[in-house]
Amino acid sequence: MRQIIRRPRRLRSNIAIRDLVAEVSVSPAELILPLFIREGIDSPIPLSTLPGIFQYDLESAVKEARRVFSSGVKSFMIFGVPTEKDAVGSRGYADGNITSRSIAAFKDEFGENALVMADLCLDEFTDHGHCGVLDDKGCVANDATLELYGEMALSQARAGVDFVGPSGMMDGQVGHIRGVLDSEGYTDVGILAYSIKYASGLYGPFREAVNVSIANGGDRKGYQQDFRNISEAVTEVELDISEGADMVMVKPAGMYLDIIRTVRNLVDVPVAAYQVSGEYSMIKAAGAAGYIDEAAIAYESLIAIKRAGASAILTYFAHAIDEILA
Ligand code: PBG
Repeated sequence: MRQIIRRPRRLRSNIAIRDLVAEVSVSPAELILPLFIREGIDSPIPLSTLPGIFQYDLESAVKEARRVFSSGVKSFMIFGVPTEKDAVGSRGYADGNITSRSIAAFKDEFGENALVMADLCLDEFTDHGHCGVLDDKGCVANDATLELYGEMALSQARAGVDFVGPSGMMDGQVGHIRGVLDSEGYTDVGILAYSIKYASGLYGPFREAVNVSIANGGDRKGYQQDFRNISEAVTEVELDISEGADMVMVKPAGMYLDIIRTVRNLVDVPVAAYQVSGEYSMIKAAGAAGYIDEAAIAYESLIAIKRAGASAILTYFAHAIDEILA
């Protein structure tokens, strides 16, 4: 008789043993649902490039959040979509803007039982589609943009936001926002920093979701990171932590698992990852075409992101987590 001392298959022989020894899992409480809340509409508008995802009016957004909350998802990331845009994105921080109204409505609805986060960036609010204000050469002006991010942070804080999510990739944004919040007494408002945000083609469907197109066929390569680089991710994350980030995020997720792992090994704050619109849409499209089993691949993708070292995942799949985990 052949003697094989180690037979790893014993640990895979049925579902009970597999579940017993599984090293990684994903649960709804670890997910953050992004929600697009649009001013001036009164019923949800489906997004053709993000099947299953909608632009919501405020009332239907709260209803959708309640539904998803009942599956155990407790965190929401609000993206306000304004009716009017201008060069300085003023609807992003003006009194009564859509993001603030949404934050207040969510806090009313959930109180301390859910975490209300808001994207802190100007691209949804500028007519040129960039994440900040432009200088006379048409380049995004870093320090002038920081001033507006400070305004935005305050408007979100006044509305009751739990965590702001600065996503514009301006230098010094975390430190500036922390300083402004603290000086106005909002020391309890946290910062989930989009520390590592690559200039990725995977944000395409998101731009439909927030009605953004970048003027003159432009791109964000002058401020978002070059996806050929690793060490600048280390620089960015170290800077954000030194500036006061409570959690750091890597974005996109699925094609950047090496970066998630690098960051996880480097820092001692929680690491989040954003499974972005293009990642979601590719899985949905391949599922709809019958090439893959959508729910199975959605699950596998979330596990991969957890396995790489993320503790929280911002994902559009959060809205269907019941089916995915079933
Ligand atoms: C910027 C922002 C973007 C995303 C989240 N925040 C767009 C961008 O940087 O171009 C993309 C998210 C996604 O693709 O799901 N406000």
